[in-house]
Amino acid sequence: MSITTRDDHPSTSVLPERIRRFPWPFIAENYRYSANVEPANKVVKTEVGEWGSSLIDIDEYYLEELREREAILERDPSRLQFLPHMRPAIWDAITTLLPAMAKDYPDTMSFTKEGKRCRWRNDLQNLDVQFTVGVDDSLPMGPLRFLGSQIQDDMAFLDKREDALWLDAGVITFAADWSIGFDTGMKFHEIHGPVPRITEERIVSRAEQFLLRLQPGEQYRRTNWTMTIDHRLDTSTETYPQWAHDRSTLAEDPNLPERLHLRVEVQHLVCLPHTGTVLFLIRSYLLPLTDIAKVPAWRENLGHVLAELPDDMAEYKGFIRYRKAASDWLLAG
Ligand code: HEM
Repeated sequence: MSITTRDDHPSTSVLPERIRRFPWPFIAENYRYSANVEPANKVVKTEVGEWGSSLIDIDEYYLEELREREAILERDPSRLQFLPHMRPAIWDAITTLLPAMAKDYPDTMSFTKEGKRCRWRNDLQNLDVQFTVGVDDSLPMGPLRFLGSQIQDDMAFLDKREDALWLDAGVITFAADWSIGFDTGMKFHEIHGPVPRITEERIVSRAEQFLLRLQPGEQYRRTNWTMTIDHRLDTSTETYPQWAHDRSTLAEDPNLPERLHLRVEVQHLVCLPHTGTVLFLIRSYLLPLTDIAKVPAWRENLGHVLAELPDDMAEYKGFIRYRKAASDWLLAG
């Protein structure tokens, strides 16, 4: 006997993990920007599952995404940036994130530290390394690239000085239409310059003041979302010619429901314990409309959000040309 619900969609127990663990970002039928921050590690229940129990989320795509990051960095080393004064912050991130992962995934990971000597074991990668905090060449690829090879998240490091935040280091291989090479060295306000509404609505200055006041060890998070054509994590400015053209043809493509993905970023904001640097982690999740349609409440919710979103926001997010086709398909269901 197959189990179906009244709406004739599979019961939640047979939905795949990528749907059950998906961080659904909408809390209403409409979406507007806000400084939507909440404490990290709070589990959020969705229609069909839950997400949010760990700072670093490891899922079925772990090895695949890390291989992709490695290949991108080989092709384009500019996706890793750091200004020399950020070295201590990068080590601070290593000694913060690796123990957090060992605590959350004790079956496959462990971290021990005696003085400055550390040992990191990651069975998912058959890895067992020993290194010394602060000694860059004690890690084969250097500390920042090494950390980027252990977590699926992109990372940006923001230095606090002159009562402002400065983006001074990062590994960003899965950017949603921006460039770490271009943004490194910029202030928080400058980085957010291209985003409509948020300067006038004082969201940027409120967010910056909030981040400047974070205390060492504090961890918060927020979500952000956009739409991405195909299962493509690397939609950075650097690869624009490879993906941007599809935006103008998708509305007529009969495969739109399979090709179009809701892209959700779970963004963690961590005030590193020793340096006070703000570490910004961006973990990107992609789910096609065909999967979203398996959850009727999600189907309707995204359909309404896309239909109602003001033009300036749809234009900025890059989907103004096909958002009607997408919302029509979702709402016709
Ligand atoms: C974009 C808000 C923290 C980097 C955005 C957008 C919003 C936003 C509303 C537009 C997103 C979209 O429509 O898809 C916030 C808030 C933050 C925060 C409220 C903190 C509470 C950060 C941090 C960084 C950052 C710490 C560090 C690098 C960016 C970048 C973009 C962006 C690079 C894309 C800008 C572009 O189009 O070039 N942010 N943000 N944000 N944010 Fe943030």
